[in-house]
Amino acid sequence: MPTLAILTSGGDSPGMNMAIWQANAAMQVLGWQTLGVKEGFTGLLRGDFLKLETSDTMRYTRYGGTFLASSRDPDFALKIPEAIDQLEQAGITHLLVLGGNGSIRGAAALANTGIKVIGIPATIDNDVAGSNDSIGFDTACNFGLQMIDQFRDTLEALPRLCVLETLGGDSGFLALEIARAGGADCALLPEHPISSLELLQITQAAIKHHHYALIVASEGYEDLEQTVLNLERETGLRLRFSRPSHAMRGGRPSSHDRSLAAALALAACNALTKGESGMMGWQDGKAKRLDFKDIPNQKILKMENQKKNPET
Ligand code: F6P
Repeated sequence: MPTLAILTSGGDSPGMNMAIWQANAAMQVLGWQTLGVKEGFTGLLRGDFLKLETSDTMRYTRYGGTFLASSRDPDFALKIPEAIDQLEQAGITHLLVLGGNGSIRGAAALANTGIKVIGIPATIDNDVAGSNDSIGFDTACNFGLQMIDQFRDTLEALPRLCVLETLGGDSGFLALEIARAGGADCALLPEHPISSLELLQITQAAIKHHHYALIVASEGYEDLEQTVLNLERETGLRLRFSRPSHAMRGGRPSSHDRSLAAALALAACNALTKGESGMMGWQDGKAKRLDFKDIPNQKILKMENQKKNPET
């Protein structure tokens, strides 16, 4: 009997549980056995599998995080033979991997050995090249937006300098989306650093216009804390620096993320039944499978982007 194992890896993201349920339900209808892998690639290496029942997995779909738990193992690519041994011993023929860039790389390394693997972008960072959307991004954006709306209640009453630090690792997609949707005065993005003078001018213009300044900054922005402290000194406004940290990664998945998770999981299962491997990305409003070798390298993309914008 074909057996699919489902694994969540890296930073958890709201909607992962929905994808697990959808994949489990779809494969069980087809008569496949489905297993969950506990604790990502780390659990895979110790053969930690559990049988999945759709009635159980449905219960988790409305919650953030991943009930399978997760892990980060930067050296996983060096441990592929051990991983394959564990998969073979458990009779696992197919694998579904949910996670960000590192997890998709782990999935690709396994697929190189011949096992059928589909990776699905599931990260609040939304920085997986080859996919315009990622499970969890919308929920994290909505959380950030709600914070901005609530900051503004005070800001409109009292002049303050308000800086919201988002997660996002070394990419600024999350900060940019929250800044844009929330009408922030400035977004500080790792990909496009601005000079202290430019930041001061933008901030002073905002203060002149509406008596406060609201800035969204990605955690990967170089010297963020110092930049923000300098700005407080230079503007003379009382600063509030908010760092919601993992709260930004949690919470009930939005309708968009649940629906995206279901669509990607179904498309991934469909591809697996056809014996395909690769990444199931989201492009032009639909799921699209890319061969692992065709996924653009995110680091190279960033370098090219910086070359195109040398003034940054
Ligand atoms: O999953 C991605 C992410 O949430 C990034 O935005 C963030 O930088 C990182 O994970 C944080 O990881 P950790 O939970 O290990 O601190």
